[in-house]
Amino acid sequence: ELYLASRSMLLGKEVVVTAGGTVERFDPVRYLTNDSSGKMGFAIAEAARDLGAQVTLIAARTTAPTPGGVELVQVESAQQMLDAVLSRADSADVVVKAAAVADYRPIIRHETKLKKTGDTLIIEMEKTTDILAELGRRKNGQFLVGFAAETDRLEEHAMDKLQRKNCDLIVANDVTMEGAGFNVDTNAVSIFDRDGLVEALPVLGKRETADRLMRLVADRLAGSAK
Ligand code: CTP
Ligand code: CA
Repeated sequence: ELYLASRSMLLGKEVVVTAGGTVERFDPVRYLTNDSSGKMGFAIAEAARDLGAQVTLIAARTTAPTPGGVELVQVESAQQMLDAVLSRADSADVVVKAAAVADYRPIIRHETKLKKTGDTLIIEMEKTTDILAELGRRKNGQFLVGFAAETDRLEEHAMDKLQRKNCDLIVANDVTMEGAGFNVDTNAVSIFDRDGLVEALPVLGKRETADRLMRLVADRLAGSAK
């Protein structure tokens, strides 16, 4: 019975998950990106699927295999991810922003390959739209889960992001910790809500971490429905 009950914790819910690292191009063959593997977001999509949700996974560059039974939307840049997320956010019950979105993008995207001329190269960048903050501003009933990758003052930075971006939960990890963060199969996250620390999870496989997170989300949804 326990199995059946957990299989339906998110039944009928629409969950949008973003994952991977965005790619910001500045000429036809060159781009800027980051170290995200996309594994955490993909694990979250699987966990939500297994709890009965209808899942859309909006993914930028990733090395993770595509999970079955979820709708995959492949994007490249922060702008494309923004468009994809906003077009689906209205009908979503939950949005989980696990993607590593570029904070800046090159202002100019050259039509032809840049030639090696000067001794230095300056690529001027401009800020991207903060997708999570935009979702927070437009929030109309969605349960918003953000991520925070930090190297110091974890709780302070996480709580600041939660408040600034109007999230319901923030999943924070200390990327300097062994077995946490980018390009590994494990993670050790602390989950915060408006009132502070909810749960500090130990080092776990990303799928186990994802299961715990999505069960917490399901509990919160059930609680607010009462
Ligand atoms: N995020 C986003 N759009 C951006 C930048 C970040 O949606 N343009 C989201 C991430 O997906 C994550 C959360 O915001 O869920 C926090 O990302 P993070 O990089 O930790 O925070 P920033 O606000 O970008 O601050 P900083 O990089 O300076 O720590
Ligand atoms: Ca950032």
